Amino acid sequence: MSDLLPLAQTLAKRAYAPYSSYQVGCALETSAGKIYTGCNVENASYGLTICAERNAIFRAVAEEGPGMKIVRLSVVCLGHEFPPCGACRQVIAEFSLPHGATEITFLRDGEPVTMTIAELLPATFALK
Ligand code: THU
Repeated sequence: MSDLLPLAQTLAKRAYAPYSSYQVGCALETSAGKIYTGCNVENASYGLTICAERNAIFRAVAEEGPGMKIVRLSVVCLGHEFPPCGACRQVIAEFSLPHGATEITFLRDGEPVTMTIAELLPATFALK
């Protein structure tokens, strides 16, 4: 099982973040055993910015199709520490393993912390 955190760190260095200076990288593994990566890409029209996590997830769907499932996902920001934002949690939930078992790893006080998406987003919005 490859370590996703170093990959996320590499991607963070490729971020396009001239407005916030928050360079974020993400790496995820799908149930097909493939690894996908993404970085945040900002825009002068701020709302058009895409987070690193959604960039990686959308790349994974583009490669594997709509059945893509995320087994685990890691996110890193250079010089800052945080779990995925609320918008990204909702998108992770859309492609999570059954019962929200997808594992999310992020740094806290320099140490990796892993939580399931069910823990990070306990009341997920879903269409019936
Ligand atoms: N950002 C991410 O890439 N992922 C998150 O989960 C939170 C925020 C990015 C978006 C923006 O480019 C910068 O961090 C500051 O909000």
